[in-house]
Amino acid sequence: MDILDNSNLPDISAFSFIPTDEPARQSYYMALLKKTFEERQNLIGRPLTYAVITFGCQMNAHDSEKLEGILSLTGLTASDEDTADIVIYNTCTVRENANQKLYGHLGQLKAKKKKNQEMIIGLCGCMMQQPDIVDYIRDKFKFVDIVFGTFNVFMLAELLCRRYSDGKQVIEVLKEPIKNFENNLPEKRKYPFKTGINIMYGCNNFCTYCIVPHVRGRERSRIPEDIIEEAERFAKDDVTEVMLLGQNVNSYGVNYMEDSEMIKNNPDYDFPDLLRDVCKVDGIRRVRFMTSHPKDLSDKLIEVIRDNPKVCRHIHLPIQAGSNRILKLMNRKYTKEDYLLLVDKIKKELPDVSLTTDIMVGFPGETEEDFLETVDVVDKVGYDQVFTFIYSRRSGTPAAEWEQVPEDVVKERFNRLLKKVSERAAERVGRFKNTINEVLVEDVDSHDENMVTGRMSNNTIVHFKGCKDLIGKYVNVKLTEEKGFYYIGEMV
Ligand code: 5AD
Ligand code: SF4
Repeated sequence: MDILDNSNLPDISAFSFIPTDEPARQSYYMALLKKTFEERQNLIGRPLTYAVITFGCQMNAHDSEKLEGILSLTGLTASDEDTADIVIYNTCTVRENANQKLYGHLGQLKAKKKKNQEMIIGLCGCMMQQPDIVDYIRDKFKFVDIVFGTFNVFMLAELLCRRYSDGKQVIEVLKEPIKNFENNLPEKRKYPFKTGINIMYGCNNFCTYCIVPHVRGRERSRIPEDIIEEAERFAKDDVTEVMLLGQNVNSYGVNYMEDSEMIKNNPDYDFPDLLRDVCKVDGIRRVRFMTSHPKDLSDKLIEVIRDNPKVCRHIHLPIQAGSNRILKLMNRKYTKEDYLLLVDKIKKELPDVSLTTDIMVGFPGETEEDFLETVDVVDKVGYDQVFTFIYSRRSGTPAAEWEQVPEDVVKERFNRLLKKVSERAAERVGRFKNTINEVLVEDVDSHDENMVTGRMSNNTIVHFKGCKDLIGKYVNVKLTEEKGFYYIGEMV
């Protein structure tokens, strides 16, 4: 299903010069690209197709909705990686193995490109914010057509037009955002009824293992007016669930990108205020947010969640490690005790909340004792879900220079952690058995066409008997069977 809001593209013959200001410039290029695609499709006698392949986090997923929006608006049909003419990889660079995966995919695409003259390969996302990677691609993958970064997703049409006009590889990676005009981009949502809203970009925390601050830059916050306007626009377009996105949403308010009347009138405006304001938008029934840094999660935020039933009962609260020595080396700025205290506070105020986390194993210098502290946190907190990662050495970050833990030791610890995590998560998820919960239906079950799949407010997945007409609807479901990470239920 295509959801495109900016469908009134200008008539390019009316332009005597290319607009320099945005968003007029991109509207012009989208119109020009549409014409270019039409001509090519006429020439080859078949529709041109696209696929955007997304790696990494929710922010990338959201950027991909914008990329797909531009490609749909300019007349392409969605397809898959194997058959598409225009293939775009939106990359992630948090861990090293993502890089290797991309190079593998590119090798396969080279052969396909030889057979399909219309094929265009584009690379974007966090990996492309690293100059050494871009140099490597320029050198080794000459058949890649366009390369751009996280700050110029909005320029896709312009970059494609440049590629079509002179046939040369186009590489343009901005180091900083030019101006925020997310509200003026088309998008094609994965789900018509839910989407993300970027509230801030970048990260100022410099955890010693993490490459994100190096590739996504310093924190910049969108002004609340823009965010609320975007939520209102989505609500008018049948979106009922939004997820507020940022690397560390709890520090929202740092470094606004534009002047704001709301901030002038209330200089202390912060993330809980924003959350409350987004909840006020008519038509929005659920508001989620991602990600919270434990050091900045305030009492005020917990109160706003408690007092606003629209805020989903789910907090993703990455702990990374349980040992205070390791947390200090990671530059996380909290102790295990601070974290456990925060968890207690959250559970007391929000008894039905589900807590999830990220944990890393094998950070440089991690001893068996340190590791056992991590296992202890998993035991004590009772997470609904834990995303576990093996530490990956990212060059340019301080931890990459420190003495690494041997691979076999890390693997063994990782497996032990996984076992603990699944035992505890299953016990925890089971607590909702036989209760009735509101579920937003997302899809037909991929294993059984007579079943549908949806999510509770606390993000737990539920499968139950139903047909595709329920997609996008909120229904009450009794959770009859607990299956570890999800439930089987019955509509009531
Ligand atoms: N190695 C492994 N995992 C990492 N993460 C971030 N950097 C690294 C790294 N160098 C994990 C963290 C973060 C999640 C998004 O990715 O757990 O919370
Ligand atoms: Fe990386 Fe830490 Fe920033 Fe998260 S808070 S993006 S882990 S530097």
